[in-house]
Amino acid sequence: MQENNQKQYLWWQDGIIYQVYPRSFQDANGDGIGDLRGVILRLEYLKALGVKAIWLSPIYPSPMADFGYDISDYRGIWPTFGSMADFDELLAKVHAMGMKLILDLVPNHSSDEHPWFQESRSSRDNPKRDWYIWKDARPDGGLPNNWLSVFGGPAWEWDEKTGQYYYHAFLVKQPDLNWRNPEVEKAMLDIMRWWLDKGVDGFRVDAMWHMIKDAQWRDNPRNPDYKDSMGSYEQLLPVYSTDQPEMHGIAARMRKVLDEYDERLMIAEIYLPVHRLVAYYGTHDREAHLPFNFTLISLPWDSRLIAAAVDEYEAALPDTDWPNWVMGNHDQPRIGSRVGFGQSKVAAVLLLTLRGTPTMYYGDEIGMRDVPIPPGEVQDPQGLNMPGKNLSRDPARTPMLWDGTRNAGFTAGEPWLRVDRSFRRRNVASQEKDEYSPLCLYHKLIRLRQQEPSLKVGAYKPVYSDTQLLAYIRQADGHPGFLIVLNLSHRPGYFTPSAIRFTGVIVVDTFPEQEQVSVKDSIDLFGDEALIVRLDEWQAVSTNPNPHELAAMP
Ligand code: NOJ
Repeated sequence: MQENNQKQYLWWQDGIIYQVYPRSFQDANGDGIGDLRGVILRLEYLKALGVKAIWLSPIYPSPMADFGYDISDYRGIWPTFGSMADFDELLAKVHAMGMKLILDLVPNHSSDEHPWFQESRSSRDNPKRDWYIWKDARPDGGLPNNWLSVFGGPAWEWDEKTGQYYYHAFLVKQPDLNWRNPEVEKAMLDIMRWWLDKGVDGFRVDAMWHMIKDAQWRDNPRNPDYKDSMGSYEQLLPVYSTDQPEMHGIAARMRKVLDEYDERLMIAEIYLPVHRLVAYYGTHDREAHLPFNFTLISLPWDSRLIAAAVDEYEAALPDTDWPNWVMGNHDQPRIGSRVGFGQSKVAAVLLLTLRGTPTMYYGDEIGMRDVPIPPGEVQDPQGLNMPGKNLSRDPARTPMLWDGTRNAGFTAGEPWLRVDRSFRRRNVASQEKDEYSPLCLYHKLIRLRQQEPSLKVGAYKPVYSDTQLLAYIRQADGHPGFLIVLNLSHRPGYFTPSAIRFTGVIVVDTFPEQEQVSVKDSIDLFGDEALIVRLDEWQAVSTNPNPHELAAMP
C-alpha cells in the first residue's frame, strides 16, 4: 500500500495493467508460437515501461479451438507455452521485480475435451450430466429456444449419443457450464484457490455476463437495429441469455474467495451499458474490483460523445468503487487501426490521464496496426464462421514487433500469424531511440502518471468539449493540478475556455516540440495534438452555457 493524500491506494488502483497475448508476445524456442519463457525474456521491457500488472490470456491446456478460451485442464499449462516450472519461474520473477501477474479465468464454459464434459456427455445419468446445460428438442423436433452463438449459428448442438441438445454461447467446442449446479460453482472456486495459493495476483474473468441464463429459457427478442454487416449473433437482443440477476450472487461468492487472500484482484469481462456494468461492482455485497469499462472501445471517436460518456461513468460510480479504462484487447480492432496513427497517440494521452486503472494491450505502445490476414490464412473461429464480414480477430493478434531483424525478433521459426511487413521501421528497438515515437510518448505518460498523485489518483474535473476538443483537469488535494487538452480531429483546434483562467507549462505533448512551453488562458493545437499542462494556477471565472465548462467550477 502507498500513502497519498492521507488516503491509501492499492496496487491495482494506482498501477497500470498490460495485457500479454502469450501466443504473439515472444517465442523463445523457435516453434513460431509465443511462450512463457518468451514472456520471462521480456519482463525487463515491461518493468522499464512502468506497468504494474501483467494479464496473461489463457495459458492452460487446450485444443485451441478458440486459442485457449477452450480449457481442457484448469490446473495445467499448455505444453507449447511451457511447463508449470516455467510458470512458477515467471511468477517468481514478476514478483521479484515488484510487478503482479493476473491470469485469465474462463468459468462460463470449458472445452468439449475437458474430462467433465466427456463424462457429462457419456450418458444421461452420469453424475456430471447436470454440470453442463442439456435440453430436449421441442416437441416438433426444433431447437430448445432461439438463442444464438456469439460465433455464428444457433447456440444449441445436438448430441446424437444421448439424444439431447447442449448449450454453447461460443463455439460448439465450448459447452457452457451449468452455474445453477452448486458442484460446478464449488469446482471453479477451488480452481481459483489453487492458483491463488500459488501466488497469482488475481483473475480477469472471461464472459462474466454470460455465466448464468434465464431459468425459464425464454426466447430472446429480435434486435430492431440489426444490420447485415453485423455478426449474426446481433440479430437478437441477449436479454435472457446474459446479465441475469442471479449472476450477482455468484460474483459476490467469487469475490469472497479473493478476499480470503491479501490484495488480490478480480477483473470482469462484461460488455454492457454503463448503468448495468457498474452493478457488477456489487450493490449488496462486493463483486468485481474492476468490471472492465469498454466505453472507449465501443464509442465512435468523437470528442462530445466521449466527454459525455466519461461524465456518465464518473457519475455512475459511487465513491467506494474504482474506475478503469480499456483501449484495446485481443477481441477488438487495434486503436491504431480504428482511429489512425496520429489519433492513436491522442488516445494514449486519454487512456493514461483519465481517472482510474488503465489497461493497455500489447503493441499499442508502439502504434501497432491491424495486419490484413488473407482469407486462406484466417485462424480465428469468429472470422472462419462468419466469412465476408471482416470479423476475424486475427489482425489484432499478430506478433509483437521487437526489432528490425527477421520476424521482428518475435521468433526464429515461422510465426503462427503474419508479422506486419512494416516491422523494420516500426518496432520497439527503433522507437526506443526516437523521441517522436509512440513508445517514447508512452514512457513519458507513464512516468508522469506514476510520479504525480494528481494524475494517478486525483479527482476528474470536466472542463470543456466541442466537436474537436476535449479538456479536463486532474487534481489531488494538496498537489499541483494538470490540465489535459486533446484534439480528437486532424485539423487545428483552438482551446479558449471562458469558464477557467489558467497558467502553466506543457509537460507532455504528442508533438514534443511543444513541451516546456508556457501557456496562459488559451492554447492553439495542431490536428492530432494532445497535451498535458502542469498548472501553476487556475480558477473558475464564470458560468457558461457549455456544460463542461460549468462542471469545472470548483
Ligand atoms: C472473451 C474472450 O476475450 C474471447 O477471446 C473469447 O473468444 C470469448 N470470451 C469466449 O471465451
